[in-house]
Formats: sequence, structure tokens, C-alpha cells
Amino acid sequence: MKVLTTRGEMRDLRDKTRADKLSMGLVPTMGALHSGHLELVSRALEDNDLVVVSIFVNPTQFDNPEDLEKYPRTLERDLELLRERSPKIVVFAPEVSEMYTEAIVSEPWDFEGLDKVMEGAYRDGHFEGVATIVSRLLLTVGPDRAYFGEKDYQQLQIIRQLVSNRNIPVEIVPCPIVREEDGLAMSSRNQRLTKRLRKEANFIYKCLIEAKSQFGMKNAIDIAENIRGQFAKHPDFKLEYVEIADAATLMPIKSGDDAAKYRIFIAAFLGGIRLIDNMPLN
Ligand code: PAJ
Repeated sequence: MKVLTTRGEMRDLRDKTRADKLSMGLVPTMGALHSGHLELVSRALEDNDLVVVSIFVNPTQFDNPEDLEKYPRTLERDLELLRERSPKIVVFAPEVSEMYTEAIVSEPWDFEGLDKVMEGAYRDGHFEGVATIVSRLLLTVGPDRAYFGEKDYQQLQIIRQLVSNRNIPVEIVPCPIVREEDGLAMSSRNQRLTKRLRKEANFIYKCLIEAKSQFGMKNAIDIAENIRGQFAKHPDFKLEYVEIADAATLMPIKSGDDAAKYRIFIAAFLGGIRLIDNMPLN
């Protein structure tokens, strides 16, 4: 399996792939790969002749230096998992200095409010960092399709907007959330939970399911408020937000009796580990 580390090598591969008229998919990741990531890779393998998996812990999207420092880095194991998956995979794993040649800062972006709510409101500068690295990856790798998980639904919507604003010729392919058996959404951060807290972690999923079962019957504002109340009583969780929002605009629900699609979003700390999840409601 080829492991490329420079933008120059990556551009050469892109040019050769285009000359050979082969299709290319990109799966951007920060490594510490789990079955959620591997689902995106499988989907990309189905659709393309060649799949580039990027592994890069992007410093500009972390608002908390401790979170960046503690982010799991398991490159050798990640490479092993990908190697056994398919010979069609190429890994792009650059150093920070390769993606940020001048200074480690984000570019300014305008996402018409998509980046101001939920994750954007709680994680200062997060989406500027995500947009900066994703646009650099898309321009360097030049894929026909790029794959993103609905686990980070707000990120997915922002990337769709980025690609449309900048006319980047790539198809953005959304992939459903992959969960553990007990419902917990897979995440690289889950491995930082203690055994005891890991057992508590699917409380988020249970709340999402409860909201979904009530949606359309009870008032949406009350559904969200009820879940906030349940978090307030939970001994281990510290809630950041519960929002029911329009799936396209991410604006908070007003009436709920229109034709729009809605999703519920939750972010909460469990033992200092930040977990996020979401689910479609209708
Ligand atoms: P990371 O958290 O590593 O996730 C990489 C991709 O895997 C994202 O598109 C994410 O939504 C998807 N993913 C993670 N867990 C998933 C799950 N349980 N089910 C389905 N998809 C899942 O997201 C990032 O990295 C970064 O922000 C990145 C886009 C790479 C930019 O740095």
C-alpha cells in the first residue's frame, strides 16, 4: 500500500490517475480508525477505481489544546487496517508542516450562519479549521467524490456549502452513522472513556430515540426541554446542547408542522470526553 506524505507526491498521483482516466474517491480522517471510518472507505471502494484515505490530525480545528494533545494517534494500526482492506487504497498522511507551510492558522470563511450554531457556538474557530483543511485536501487530492459521515452532520452541511461556494468539482457523498451494539455512535474519542463511563455513554442514543418516537406527537420545544431535564439529572453527563433543527439550514425548529426535514442534535461531556450525536426525526 502506498503511503504518501508530501503534497507533491499526492499531486503526481492525482495527475497520473487523471491521465489514466481512473476515478478517485477521498475519505478525509484524523486517524484512530474505527468501523465508522471503514464504512466510508467501503463505500468509496464501491464507487471508485482508487481511494485515498487521508490521515491528518488537523491542529486548527481544535479549540482546546489538551484535546489536540490527547487525540489518539495510532498510525501503524490504521495502516494495517487499510492494508488488509483493499489494494485500491492509497494513504495520504502528511506532517503538519506540509499542510500549513506558512503558519498554523485558518483562512476566513462565510457559511451564512451554518457555522454559528451548535458546534460552531461551542467550539470557537472549529469550522474555520475544518474548512481550511478540507479545502486544502480537496484541492491537493483532486478526487471525483469525497465521503463524509452524518455523525458530524453540521460539518457535512458546511462542506457542501464550501464546495458550492468555491466551485470545487467534487461530489460530496454523505454516509449514515455507524453505531456500537448498544447504540453509541462510534468515535475515536470513545476509547478515552473509562469502562464505567463507557456503559453510561449510550444514554445519548436513548435520548435521541425517545425524541424520535415523540416527534410529531408532542411539541418539539417540549421534547428538547424534556431531554435537557433528563441530562440535568444524570450524575455523569454535562450537557452542552440539545437542539431540534432544520436538517438543511440547521436553524432551530419553530413550528414543526411544515414540510421540512428535522434532526435532533446532542453534544455532552462524559468524564471530560466530549461526545456528539444526531438523528433524523422525520
Ligand atoms: P474524523 O473525526 O476522523 O472523521 C472522519 C470522517 O469519519 C468524518 O466524515 C466523520 O463524520 C466520519 N465518521 C466518524 N465517526 C463516524 C461514525 N460513527 N459513523 C459514520 N461516520 C463517521 O471529521 C473529521 O475527522 C475531521 O473533521 C476531518 C473531516 C478529517 C477534517 O480534519
